[in-house]
Amino acid sequence: MEMEKKPITTSRMKRMKKDGDPITMVTAYDYPSASLAQEAGIDVILVGDSLGNVVLGYESTLPVTLDDMIYHTRAVTRGAPDTFVVTDLPFMTYHGSLDTTLANVARLMQEGLCKAIKMEGGTEIAHTVEAITKAGVPVMGHIGLTPQSVYQIGGFKVQGKTSKQAAKLLEDAKALEQAGAFAVVLELVTEELAELVTKELSIPTIGIGAGPSCDGQVLVFHDLLQYASETYPKKFVKTYADIGSQIRDGLSGYVKDVKARTFPDASHSFKGEQDVAAYLYGSKN
Ligand code: KIV
Repeated sequence: MEMEKKPITTSRMKRMKKDGDPITMVTAYDYPSASLAQEAGIDVILVGDSLGNVVLGYESTLPVTLDDMIYHTRAVTRGAPDTFVVTDLPFMTYHGSLDTTLANVARLMQEGLCKAIKMEGGTEIAHTVEAITKAGVPVMGHIGLTPQSVYQIGGFKVQGKTSKQAAKLLEDAKALEQAGAFAVVLELVTEELAELVTKELSIPTIGIGAGPSCDGQVLVFHDLLQYASETYPKKFVKTYADIGSQIRDGLSGYVKDVKARTFPDASHSFKGEQDVAAYLYGSKN
């Protein structure tokens, strides 16, 4: 008999950190990617606002709206009902009044049906993280390279290289833990600093481009599977499959066959019980 799989919980993730059991996280944006991630046994699915880049074709995550996130989260939670789904609060949806922020979080949870939300930033958003966790919503933090601030940062640069940057990142991580976050994503952070932050926190760190010492790892679905992902090389990504090439080959094969009239052939076509032309026009035709 197949065992019923239950979504992981935030306390289980904390235990996994203690036990040295790595947490696996991947992004997904729709029903099929979410069902495949669940089948593969992923612990946490992230509906990342990276959907702006990899699904919607924007240059950054900034144009992604709350409605976009809700729409994609609904599809993901339908595709992976037994997996813990976290959704990004998109650009500028948590920087206004607390009432507006809480209303946005409520929409994401009630309409998208995710189990937690993720927010970018450290000390400067800690009070908001605290208010959201006090309202009963699990929050995952995200520090290091924060793509919603890419134009302020000035590009996709590795963070924490200088001692000043490193001290700020550690302070941010601790502020998020203090505010009640259940985990923190460390993006594009030097491996030494990621190791230090991981040791200093009691909540799990989930790394992307942050080396092997984090308590878990996350990658973007389209990157690890080479599914028409951005073409510039990302040192921190390992390619596990090249489905982009397979899709391209499949589609050009289809175009070739239709042009050559070799598809569909008899094996893909249907026959009626009688000769339709004879029935419609009589035996003369
Ligand atoms: O939006 C996203 O996919 C993310 C991951 C890169 C962590 O935030």
